[in-house]
Amino acid sequence: MKWEQDYVAQAAQRQRIVAGFNVFGYEDAQAVIRAAERADAPVLLMLNRDARAVMAIEHWAALLNSLAESSRVPVGIHLDHCTEIKTIIRAIDAGFTSVMFDGSHFPITENLKITQEVAQHAHKKNIFLEAELGTVPYSDIGETEINLTDPEEARKMQEQTQVDWLAVSVGNIHRLATRKVSIQFPVLQQIEDSCQLPLVIHGASGVKDEEISQLKKTRVGKMNFGTVLRKTFGDCLRSEMREKPDEFDRLRLFRDPVAQVEEQAFHIIHMLWQEEK
Ligand code: G3H
Ligand code: ZN
Repeated sequence: MKWEQDYVAQAAQRQRIVAGFNVFGYEDAQAVIRAAERADAPVLLMLNRDARAVMAIEHWAALLNSLAESSRVPVGIHLDHCTEIKTIIRAIDAGFTSVMFDGSHFPITENLKITQEVAQHAHKKNIFLEAELGTVPYSDIGETEINLTDPEEARKMQEQTQVDWLAVSVGNIHRLATRKVSIQFPVLQQIEDSCQLPLVIHGASGVKDEEISQLKKTRVGKMNFGTVLRKTFGDCLRSEMREKPDEFDRLRLFRDPVAQVEEQAFHIIHMLWQEEK
C-alpha cells in the first residue's frame, strides 16, 4: 500500500509513533513489512549512507517501492541523513516518499535556507521532508558531545521553512548496541512549547522501553531504528554459521536471522503503535 498521507503528523497527535528502520537488502525490507502488517501499522523503510554506498538509489527505489506496493499497510520509502541536494533530488525523482536534509552540521542560517529550498522541491511532488537541529552523536566513531536542539532555532525552523518533520537532539545517541541513553524530557518540552512540528528521534536503538512509552505522550511522531536490527541479524547469523559449519547456502543461512529481524521489528512497531492506556 502506498504511503499517501502524513502518518507521522497523525501519529504525533495520537500518542503513537511511526517506526522507521534502516534496511540493507530485500531480506530485512520484507521482514519489516511483514512485521508492520502483523502490527497493522504504517512503517518507513529508510536508506542510509551505507546502503547508498553499495547500490544506486534508483535501484533501491525500484526494489523497495515494489515491495511497498504489495503490502497491506502503508509503507514509505525514506532517504535518511542526506547533506547533498543533488542526491535528495535524485531520490525525489526516483520515487522516495520522504527525504531528510540533514543540515545539523551547517550554520543555522544555512540549514534554514537549504531546508526551505529542499521543501519546495519535495512538496512539488507531494514528498515529505525531515530536517535536523542540534546534533545526534555517532557512538561508533567515538563522538561523545551531545549538541542539544535549541528551542529558539526550532521556532525559526517552523517559521522560516515548510519542513514537515523535525529531528531533535535531546540526549539520544546513534549506533548504541545497548539501551542506555537518558532522554532529556525537559528539553523536549521546551522544544514542543516553541514549535508545533512533528518531532523525530534518531538513534532509537539506544532508547529504553519506559522512555518510549513516555515519548508516545509527546509530539514525537517518528523514531529511527538501525543498529538493533543489524545486531539481531549479525548475532543470529554468527551462531547459525557456528552450528552449521557445512552449510553454504545463503537462503538457508539467512532463514533464522531474517525471522529474528521480523520478530524484533514487530516488537518495536507494536510497542510504538499500540494505544497507551
Ligand atoms: O537515522 C537512523 C538512525 O537514527 C538509527 O540509529 O542505528 O542508533 O538505531 P540507530
Ligand atoms: Zn539518524
